[in-house]
Amino acid sequence: MKRFDIIVGDITRSDAEAIVNAANTSLLGGSGVDGAIHRAAGRSLLEECRTLGGCETGKAKLTKGYDLPAKYVIHTPGPIWQGGGLGEPALLASCYRSCLSLAAANNIESVDFPSISTGIYGYPLPQAATVALRAMMDWLAEHELPRRVRMVCHTEATAAVYRQTWNLWYAEEKAERI
Ligand code: APR
Repeated sequence: MKRFDIIVGDITRSDAEAIVNAANTSLLGGSGVDGAIHRAAGRSLLEECRTLGGCETGKAKLTKGYDLPAKYVIHTPGPIWQGGGLGEPALLASCYRSCLSLAAANNIESVDFPSISTGIYGYPLPQAATVALRAMMDWLAEHELPRRVRMVCHTEATAAVYRQTWNLWYAEEKAERI
């Protein structure tokens, strides 16, 4: 089984043990992938989210997956892009690390991510892909869990940017790191 992969698909249909939701700090749903996950999971997800008291940007909180195929949802609010000089890269990296750390702490074996912050939050895709891949690869090089991590891109165009970035930084010479 590949430790890391970049695929195209609808994350609400993922067979991973946990899927990540690109949420907002209220954790009370929204549009984009947040809306899709809440629609697919059903009302019980919102009811559990209501008990969590929100979530800071860059942090992560775990809920059940309810009607989703995934057992868990890990909710993380990404940074809103404001030009890149207000700590956005560090906050985006923190989203990925927080989700992976929470997954490992709950013995979750497989985690699928959407491309956090690159939709409504306007984070430019090439910069986001560099930050995201660095955060995921560094985690996987240092930890056993999760055993499988995937970036689930909604479109081929998004996947192409992640694949180009991965090939640039993590192709053959570093593949053994993970
Ligand atoms: N499966 C996988 N990826 C998806 C799906 C899906 N079903 N739907 C959307 N995406 C992708 C988008 O194409 C984008 O690449 O998820 C990525 C993140 O986009 P958004 O969902 O807009 O999330 P984000 O940019 O982080 O903005 C978060 O939007 O929905 C609200 O409540 C949310 O306020 C928060 C903000």
